[in-house]
Amino acid sequence: MSKKRLWITRRLSDATLDRAAKDYDVVINHEDTPGTADQLIAASAEFDAIIPCHSEHFSADVVAQFSDRVKIVANHSVGVDHCDLTALKARGIAVTNTPDVLSDATAELAMLLMLGAARHAVAGDRIVRTGAWDSWSPAFMVGKQVTGARLGIVGMGRVGRAFAAKARGFDMEIHYYNRSELPVDQAKGATYHQTVESLLGVADFLSLHCPATPETTNLMNLKRFALLPKGAVVVNTARGALVDEAALLDALAAQQISAAGLDCFQVEPGGNPAFAAHDNIFMLPHIGSATRQTRDAMGFRALDNLDAFFAGQTPGDLL
Ligand code: DGY
Repeated sequence: MSKKRLWITRRLSDATLDRAAKDYDVVINHEDTPGTADQLIAASAEFDAIIPCHSEHFSADVVAQFSDRVKIVANHSVGVDHCDLTALKARGIAVTNTPDVLSDATAELAMLLMLGAARHAVAGDRIVRTGAWDSWSPAFMVGKQVTGARLGIVGMGRVGRAFAAKARGFDMEIHYYNRSELPVDQAKGATYHQTVESLLGVADFLSLHCPATPETTNLMNLKRFALLPKGAVVVNTARGALVDEAALLDALAAQQISAAGLDCFQVEPGGNPAFAAHDNIFMLPHIGSATRQTRDAMGFRALDNLDAFFAGQTPGDLL
């Protein structure tokens, strides 16, 4: 039987590309540039399957122009806000994602952002790096202590729970908002809040771990920032769409929040140029899942989904 034709839109890990080349007639975008709408439409006629990242946008308009050849979009991401699932399903195209395997890497990055934001990592690094560190005093760069503080988690899915596990190592008091309350063995003592508003009232540190959907767009707006305890620290490793960035700047200016740690932005790549002037915003360029181990695991999970699909089985991560 001839191999299925597969397009891989970005430079995935070497182990992933080697495995894909063994089992598929694969074309890889070695230039590693985001796939454009025209490229996606052309690929739908030339390939049976596509492995994209969150950088390729399968809008309803793009999907409407697809040929009937492509049968599956096996995402190399847990987030699928770049895919119009309704449009893809209506065309009979299967869609999968890569949950679980990136939870620890993303939770590690959330911890880095939380600690870095709380302890002046941006200003501290710069002052040493530039040779501007010329004095010390007990009043110098005093930050906010994480140990024992109250942590609010919005979205207690796999990443939220992995973050809670790491935060327990810092003796944090964990509170969460989720669409439904977790069973006791998953909550592990965390306090459930039925509304985001209730959670915000106790969140000395707030970390966002929910998907971007029409309901969660601008979840953190001016009104909600105002509900946080004064001087709270806000961390976002989920999606930029969750935070109204103008409201975040207002909340910082009013000292309603003392700092933010952000891996995701409304505009990506690029981020928000207005953030650059603020040392109390610790920023990274959407690299939550970027560890070698996790990149291999994401690639293999996407390929596992493809293999199952073409073997006539239901892929484990079918959406
Ligand atoms: C994800 O998997 O959704 C990450 O944001 C990387 O794409």
